[in-house]
Amino acid sequence: MRIVLGADHGGFALKEHVKETLKAGGHSVSDVGTSSAESTDYPQFAHDAAQMVADGDADMAVLACGSGNGVAIVANKVPGIRAVNAHDADEAALSRRHNHANVVTLSGARLEPAEADHIVAAFLATETEGGRHERRVGQIVALESE
Ligand code: RB5
Repeated sequence: MRIVLGADHGGFALKEHVKETLKAGGHSVSDVGTSSAESTDYPQFAHDAAQMVADGDADMAVLACGSGNGVAIVANKVPGIRAVNAHDADEAALSRRHNHANVVTLSGARLEPAEADHIVAAFLATETEGGRHERRVGQIVALESE
């Protein structure tokens, strides 16, 4: 799978960890930054990664900041993006099945690296469900063009 990563300083260390895990798992990984733990601002990184997913240049994005919230808020500004701040693997899987999420965000401040790996693995491994969930996601997509 083609995965794009993005983070600010608060998510940098976790992004680097997840990057190695994903590469070891055979994924094709892009990284839009940040490239150090120096303090920086999260919006552009989150936007650039989300835009790659929206443009079809990546299948999924994994974003991280201190809380996971800022990068989720930014990513959800990009049409076609459904980003969720997942705190555990169940939540990540549910966001795939019911919300057809295509971006998962992580808290660099709260998650241990192994927890983040579980969350990302669940997110990437879980397929979307059709039926009523597809109908609801269709309503989200329609709202984007209003
Ligand atoms: C940085 O201090 C922090 O605000 C940022 O990483 C993120 O948590 C924002 O939502």
